[in-house]
Amino acid sequence: MRHVPTLERLPACVTTITDDFSLSVIHGLSRVQKTLPCRFFYDARGSNLFEEITRLAEYYPTRTEIGILNGCAAEIVDGFSSGDVLLEFGSGSSLKTEILLDHIADRITYVPLDVSEAALADATARLGERYPELEIRPLVADFSSLTKLPNGFRDSRKTGFFPGSTIGNLAPNEAITLLSNFRKVLGKQGRLIIGVDLKKDPRVLVRAYNDASGVTAAFNLNLLARINRELAGTFDLTAFHHKAIYNPRVGRIEMHLVSDCMQDATAAGRSFHFNMGESIHTENSYKYTLAEFRELAEKAGWKANRVWTDDGEQFSVHELI
Ligand code: AVJ
Repeated sequence: MRHVPTLERLPACVTTITDDFSLSVIHGLSRVQKTLPCRFFYDARGSNLFEEITRLAEYYPTRTEIGILNGCAAEIVDGFSSGDVLLEFGSGSSLKTEILLDHIADRITYVPLDVSEAALADATARLGERYPELEIRPLVADFSSLTKLPNGFRDSRKTGFFPGSTIGNLAPNEAITLLSNFRKVLGKQGRLIIGVDLKKDPRVLVRAYNDASGVTAAFNLNLLARINRELAGTFDLTAFHHKAIYNPRVGRIEMHLVSDCMQDATAAGRSFHFNMGESIHTENSYKYTLAEFRELAEKAGWKANRVWTDDGEQFSVHELI
């Protein structure tokens, strides 16, 4: 039996996982343009629905990124040497990581970093079986508020891994802040491998977020279901519908939940009024051109080094140094 490493925790001053759902809901639904933060999509049901999204014919990003990673993994990992650290921000199930690990011959340390202890425990157990030589040091932390790593990583060369185009959830100025934070955490010889979804025909984009079988709609509406479950909410899920549009001015997909009638709903002990047609803005997914993303990375202090894309230039994987 292989020893399963214990989950490591950081002091509250270097990462905060106090994500207060009720405060965020009250705050977001009290604004003129009602909003709900997209990080709350991922409860157990939401995570399952997202997995389903990644398998949809219309949702090209996941399978395209995996294809790119399969093609470039050998190139990415040829820079690794023994003692290096691979640090994944928001590692979840660590599935894409296996593509890299399959190509790494050196004795490296893998640090999956996630807010979900259950996801970390599952991934650590699976990878421990699959890669008996790999040192795994799972870390319970929120990548968006991480400023420091635990002791013992100072002198090793660190490669960050941030696939999935999660960066697209942030507005460009927030993305710059996050990327410069990653740079601080990864240190002087650090590098970052990051997946970024690309600008393309808006019809293709809208289809990816408005699939024919309604899985994305269910994913979006689950946010209201979660409010009902966890915050004693009274949202009528049949009185809201999913909407996904491409906003070409700022280059992003926007997801909304639109009220079909004038109505009130309670959540966390407060009442919220909705006019007919009024929306809750639930997610942004920014798209970049290769040049736009390079420029953004450079504003965050990185040097854009190599980049890999698929033949259709739908998705990109960047190496920042
Ligand atoms: C996980 C944030 C990359 O923006 O494409 C998929 C989330 N939302 N369908 C994305 C999502 C609706 C996804 N990210």
